[in-house]
Amino acid sequence: MRDLTVRYDAATAVDGVSLDVGPGELVALIGPNGAGKSTLVNALCGLLRPASGTIAVRGDLALVPEGRHLFPSLTVDDNLRLGAWRRKDRDTAHIYALLPELVVLRDRPAGRLSGGEQQMVALGRALMARPDLLVIDEMSLGLAPKIVDGLAAHLRERNAADGLAVLLIEQNARLALQLCARAYVLEAGRVVAAGPSEQLRNDASVAAAYLGLEA
Ligand SMILES: Nc1ncnc2c1ncn2[C@@H]1O[C@H](COP(=O)(O)OP(=O)(O)O)[C@@H](O)[C@H]1O
Ligand SMILES: [Mg+2]
Repeated sequence: MRDLTVRYDAATAVDGVSLDVGPGELVALIGPNGAGKSTLVNALCGLLRPASGTIAVRGDLALVPEGRHLFPSLTVDDNLRLGAWRRKDRDTAHIYALLPELVVLRDRPAGRLSGGEQQMVALGRALMARPDLLVIDEMSLGLAPKIVDGLAAHLRERNAADGLAVLLIEQNARLALQLCARAYVLEAGRVVAAGPSEQLRNDASVAAAYLGLEA
């Protein structure tokens, strides 16, 4: 995206942001609550119309939305299949191979799963579209560390095996900078820092604000 600006009426939520994710890249987007991260990805996915700027997506994109948005009365398997609504191939076997924890839950209504299980279904549903770019809005929110580690491992695996590109919004900056080679820091709708994760980890102001280290 180039110079993207998104407004809610008079309030500017994203203010002239430029951002790239290359093929097969893992890129993190970090920043405090209200920084405009969800607004940015919702515009990227075509859910919000930008006030100005350009967005170009080459390939297929799938979103894991903040708050998961599963269909609670439908089973896990049906929720997964809905992820492939644009495709002929709705076989869910590859998702159960990737997320074996879901096998025993496949016939359970999604509304009767734990938060972590729901997040796995939301991730599986997005992967059902076999996207080139997966956008995940708040991967670890409310999840136990063990589940988060599992999800991160799945992403690494898909990235290494199929070249899946990921734009990861993550509250846990430590995890985000570990998983992704590159990151953007968004504050009040603007990119205030960007670059290789290694470099951001060593940036005193980023470390102080997001890694809980003294500046
Ligand atoms: N639907 C909306 N209508 C009006 N303002 C909104 C709406 N959604 C978000 N905002 C505002 O836009 C700003 C960015 O929000 P958001 O993109 O959700 O941030 P983040 O995902 O980084 O927490 C905040 O000030 C928020 O209050
Ligand atoms: Mg958000």
